[in-house]
Amino acid sequence: MHLPIQQHIAAIIPYPPGKPIDELEREYGVTNVIKLASNENPWGPSPKAVAAITAMLPNLHRYPDGSSFSLTGAVARWIGASSDEIVLGNGSNEVIEFLVKAFVRGGDVVLTSHPSFLMYQKFVQVRGGVNVVVPLKGMHHDLESITAAVTDRTRLIFIDNPNNPTGTLISPGEFHRFLTGLPESLIVVVDEAYVDYTDRDQRIDILEYIRRPDTLPAVVSLRTFSKAFGLAGLRVGFGVMHSAVADQLHRVRQPFNINLLAQAGALAALEDLDHYQHTLQSTIEGRKWLTEAVTELGCQAYPSHTNFFLIDVRGDATRLYEAMLYKGVIVRSMKAYGYPNFIRITVGTSDENQRFVSALRDCLQDLGYVRR
Ligand SMILES: Cc1ncc(COP(=O)(O)O)c(C=O)c1O
Repeated sequence: MHLPIQQHIAAIIPYPPGKPIDELEREYGVTNVIKLASNENPWGPSPKAVAAITAMLPNLHRYPDGSSFSLTGAVARWIGASSDEIVLGNGSNEVIEFLVKAFVRGGDVVLTSHPSFLMYQKFVQVRGGVNVVVPLKGMHHDLESITAAVTDRTRLIFIDNPNNPTGTLISPGEFHRFLTGLPESLIVVVDEAYVDYTDRDQRIDILEYIRRPDTLPAVVSLRTFSKAFGLAGLRVGFGVMHSAVADQLHRVRQPFNINLLAQAGALAALEDLDHYQHTLQSTIEGRKWLTEAVTELGCQAYPSHTNFFLIDVRGDATRLYEAMLYKGVIVRSMKAYGYPNFIRITVGTSDENQRFVSALRDCLQDLGYVRR
């Protein structure tokens, strides 16, 4: 065998997913593991979504509706957009992929920040595009440096807002100034995977920009059912954008990208906004409780507008991550992201939060990180 390997593909580093629970149980001989590593919803899916998926099972021999007509309409109504301004994806990840496929050719430049969500750069690498990565300033997107990095080869700018992993937010005013300083010829993609957790009065009015393609660049918002709706395993996300942008994305997507169960489940989840509200309320309460508890242990918790936040554990984060695994608690070390003393945790149920704090207390003591 002599594979026709392409260098730009061989250079891609696979995405590091959080450790799966059953793998940890096998490897470390622990049980009752809790995973606070992947920013999932610990309260699970809406029971209405589960019922809708179950009811759809006998139809699995049929292809799904290739236009996802009902789900697209429901999403559009929920967002206040029209159906031709919505593109659904197999997770919002797939909409990122569509954007790169549709607008980036070999040698074109895409601007991203570091640290931020890693998938943007990966899709650009696959296309043979050039990633120009602008470091965060403090914990925030450095909008001035991003603007300064724009050239006539720049096609897309990805900004996750709130940012993963720092949880910080760009204000509507900052965003407006940023947009007015950019050429019309590129697309600004605002990844709002966590915006559900953000106060409404702090959110950017993305629809206003989408509907106003006068002298400004096109703006795309990315949203997902994976977080606040508790459907990460179903893989449904969507982009909100001008219909002319949507038209380009529909050309590169495969016809049945949202499977039958996913269409049924996401549709039912949108009809159970009580479940969604319960998640948001419980997350905000849990985040406050956890922040106080880890501060009490001598760590520094960073404020966040999301369902996760960073903690400075005042010692090597990867050693702490390993020690926590033995307690059956999965968190994320932020060493690879350039924060050697930070972990990122997802807000869990109150039981999970208590177990996390008790494991953290023991591990900090065992490792001699903070003395209290
Ligand atoms: C910033 C950001 N965008 C997008 C995603 C992916 O979401 P989806 O599950 O919709 O593909 C994540 C998932 O963790 C994320 O953190």
